[in-house]
Amino acid sequence: MGNIIIKNAAQVVTCSGFSGKRGREMSDLQVIENGTVIVTGGIISHLLQQGEPIPVDEQDYEVIHAEGKALLPGFVDPHTHFIFGGYREEEFSWRMRGDSYMEIMQHGGGIVNTTRATREATEEELFASGKQRLDAMMQLGITTVEGKSGYGLDRETELKQLRVMRQLNETHAMDVVPTFMGAHATPTEWKGREDAFIDFNIREMFPLVAQEKLAESVDIFCEKDVFTLAQSRRYLTAARDHGFQLKMHADEIAPLGGAELAAELRCLSADHLLQASDGGIRAMAVAGVVATLLPLTAFTLREPYARGRTMIDAGCIVALATDLNPGSSFTASVPLLFALACIYMQLTPEEAVTAFTINSAAAINRAGSIGSIDVGKQGDLLLLQFPSYKFLPYHVGMNIVETVIKRGEVAI
Ligand code: NIG
Ligand code: FE
Repeated sequence: MGNIIIKNAAQVVTCSGFSGKRGREMSDLQVIENGTVIVTGGIISHLLQQGEPIPVDEQDYEVIHAEGKALLPGFVDPHTHFIFGGYREEEFSWRMRGDSYMEIMQHGGGIVNTTRATREATEEELFASGKQRLDAMMQLGITTVEGKSGYGLDRETELKQLRVMRQLNETHAMDVVPTFMGAHATPTEWKGREDAFIDFNIREMFPLVAQEKLAESVDIFCEKDVFTLAQSRRYLTAARDHGFQLKMHADEIAPLGGAELAAELRCLSADHLLQASDGGIRAMAVAGVVATLLPLTAFTLREPYARGRTMIDAGCIVALATDLNPGSSFTASVPLLFALACIYMQLTPEEAVTAFTINSAAAINRAGSIGSIDVGKQGDLLLLQFPSYKFLPYHVGMNIVETVIKRGEVAI
């Protein structure tokens, strides 16, 4: 809970707001030039325009001189699967040879492969690799990360993944927001009994996860040959009854109507959306479902990018995420994420910044406390080596984050 003054930043890119921004609102970053930000006791206490006197005793504060540098809110990554055992480097070669992600999954690879390794891993091993991944993400400016279970697919291992995330949240500077994803795939022992597996999650897992408060949201992989729309509706409706927020992996590979279902159920977010229909996009805009786009996954799988431009023009709240996982996106590269979002999904740099700060905070129900530089919010900030946020997509693939501040303390 630190006290810090960041003085005379070339830009204070506030992204000001307390809820997700839709459509045209995403273009306005509310930049203060040559501004100063003060964090007191871990919370942003003052935003000063150029020349305004410092209203606190500087002796009680760490002072950073930020001339020539842009100051932004810490990045929020609202979709990852960062707790997992093992790796799947062979599958990368198979995909380059021409096998598709779904073919590999149908032949016993994919998520089920990682499930085997995650079941075998000890809690200590998952904690150690999870910690390393959080360290790497923080270097890239991420200060809050959502993480999903879903590589256990049995009672014990799902709880193990969620407990490791709780432990990391308590011990690491990163804030970790856990999501239960019991319906990520059907494990071998339930194959052919998908409906019964959904029932198992509803009857046994939801009450356990709710009781121990191990997750805030529940997610499902709604996809052709994974879980149907009807199964997703049943699972998510039951999750809501247990008090969870709802998330969906929707319309990733096949256009199934996932976006429409997310709107119908008023999900907090629908994620991927590469194949979302025009009607689905309109429905998400009307329902206020956050459309979380994952360009690193489309890139890795060589799939067409989600129609980010169309979604923003339709009035959607668009967020960005890395999807860090061992299969479809083994990367948390924020620099590449910004470049792909702008170059291939046709977001402007302003929209991309909004999508990875205040809108990604909205995707995990945190827009009231993080995701912007507003008085009263958590003091999670980052300084760039350059004077403008525009360098984020422009300096392709390069990490230009120089300093990361978490709750008012320098973390990187
Ligand atoms: O978001 N699509 C489903 N889930 C992950 C991939 C998980 C994996 O392949 O291990 C995703 O892309
Ligand atoms: Fe995912």
